[in-house]
Amino acid sequence: MKIAVFAGDGIGPEVTHEAVRVLQALDLPGLELAEADVGGVAYKRHGHPLPPETLAVARASDAILFGAVGDPDCDNLERHLRPEQAILGLRKELGLFANLRPAKVFGGLEDFSALRPEVAGAIDLLIVRELNGDVYFGEKGIRTLPDGRRQGWDMMSYAEDEVRRIAHVAFRAAMTRGNRLCSVDKANVLETSQVWRDVMIEVAREYPAVELTHMYVDNAAMQLVRSPGQFDVVVTGNLFGDILSDQASMCVGSIGLLASASLGEGTFGLYEPIHGSAPDIAGKGLANPMATILSAAMLLRHSLGLEAEAARIEAAVAKALADGIRGGDLGGSHGTAAIGDAVLERL
Ligand code: IPM
Ligand code: MG
Repeated sequence: MKIAVFAGDGIGPEVTHEAVRVLQALDLPGLELAEADVGGVAYKRHGHPLPPETLAVARASDAILFGAVGDPDCDNLERHLRPEQAILGLRKELGLFANLRPAKVFGGLEDFSALRPEVAGAIDLLIVRELNGDVYFGEKGIRTLPDGRRQGWDMMSYAEDEVRRIAHVAFRAAMTRGNRLCSVDKANVLETSQVWRDVMIEVAREYPAVELTHMYVDNAAMQLVRSPGQFDVVVTGNLFGDILSDQASMCVGSIGLLASASLGEGTFGLYEPIHGSAPDIAGKGLANPMATILSAAMLLRHSLGLEAEAARIEAAVAKALADGIRGGDLGGSHGTAAIGDAVLERL
């Protein structure tokens, strides 16, 4: 069992360190960890945010535990050299097209949500975000129009096979949960969304047990704060999924608690907290590592088939929260290492 550990920038190394301690505490036979540089730190050391050596480590592993990328020092670099290209490159190169972002309120944390506690308490949803297509990976550029104005442009598209494969992931996920799938698009305006919706309806015929509904993305953004408890599984494209998953995290109470899995056709996957590199608190030992620890649990479950160990980690995190262990993101005073210690004790 080879796990690649790509800690990245900002708080990435701190939070990843705690998740690695948790993995090591499980004493799994045959577990090997291999570290490599990604993001701004990789650019500074090797001249590229996703160096070939890092990609080689990724390809030789069974799963990747990823911290975060993003570094304000790199904001003015050419786009292909910016830290974000590391995560986008890994998703694309490794065919990780399905991003699972579960959002659920931990018991007792309802008051931390930006929503009223009784609204927040009902949240238990899974966002299935397409990760290899859409406007993220279309042609793009900045050009000068004949009259001299600069124009930025990004091509948005989805081919039917790209929609079909994420649809299958979402329908299968719905069958392991509440059998309800809401497809989010903007089919009232975008042709990309029309194809998306048509394919969702076609694939639905293969899953008669799942109830498929459709929602425009603007309405979905509103419903997520109005009554998020109505959602079971949400499937959406790359751009809408990026936005809605951040929104869902705040409905839960903290972006410091949400884990994610990025999967392809097999068991290989990349696991990362949905938060970013948080440069403002980097290196201070303040970041909450729980989202990364929960990402490690998802790794054990999806890529290594270790359901019992995954559940143990999740239970330890839930117990720590129930016992009042809170990072600054939840108004508490526990630092990164103290939270790691608290989870380890309960494990
Ligand atoms: C995410 C992040 C990335 C994205 C960035 C870092 C490129 O926001 O994983 O949600 O936009 O996908
Ligand atoms: Mg995002």
